[in-house]
Amino acid sequence: MANPHARQSERKYSVRLARATDIPQVIAIDTENTALPKAEYWEDLFERYNSRPTELDDDTQPKSVKRYRFFLVACDGDTVLGFIIGEVRAWEFGSPPCGWIFAIGVRAGTRQGGVGHILLEALNERFRKAGVNKVRTMLARDDTLIMSFFRSQGMMAGPFIQLEKDL
Ligand SMILES: CC(C)(COP(=O)(O)OP(=O)(O)OC[C@H]1O[C@@H](n2cnc3c(N)ncnc32)[C@H](O)[C@@H]1OP(=O)(O)O)[C@@H](O)C(=O)NCCC(=O)NCCS
Repeated sequence: MANPHARQSERKYSVRLARATDIPQVIAIDTENTALPKAEYWEDLFERYNSRPTELDDDTQPKSVKRYRFFLVACDGDTVLGFIIGEVRAWEFGSPPCGWIFAIGVRAGTRQGGVGHILLEALNERFRKAGVNKVRTMLARDDTLIMSFFRSQGMMAGPFIQLEKDL
């Protein structure tokens, strides 16, 4: 009999490229996490990131086809447990190509079960296959949950600082 207390990472679920049919669940998870519904934003991201059906590790694709943008979901059957979005960017701010993580979210009832870790590892694996050996992200200083998560995954303060002013 399955252990109901098993970590999600020990249970059966898969990480794959997000599909159009996943987006309503992504929107629902993000709305629950941030209390700020932004359906248009997620639909636009999906359009830009995953609407072309290529996959870096898909052997049916010509080797010259490289995918640099990834919108991934962790699923248990048709249920989306979490998502992560990132892309490889080159030479911005003088930086050699590296992976950037823009967003991560795990369904509230599924947290602290390893889903965030599995999503990050899946994205990092795709970054490695795209040829980069560094991953970066940005987060709000007072977001201790996201900070704890990324620190637990081995991420540390980098060499850049962010500047801004009111316009
Ligand atoms: C951050 C987040 C993605 C983590 O997902 P998760 O599936 O719970 O993470 P994991 O179970 O893989 O946890 C990995 C590690 O992160 C750290 N961590 C996770 N949740 C934590 C918490 N509530 N407090 C402290 N550390 C925590 C732990 O070190 C954990 O390792 P451990 O289980 O061995 O202790 C999830 O909490 C989330 O979606 N939060 C809201 C995100 C959000 O608001 N996004 C909008 C801005 S991008």
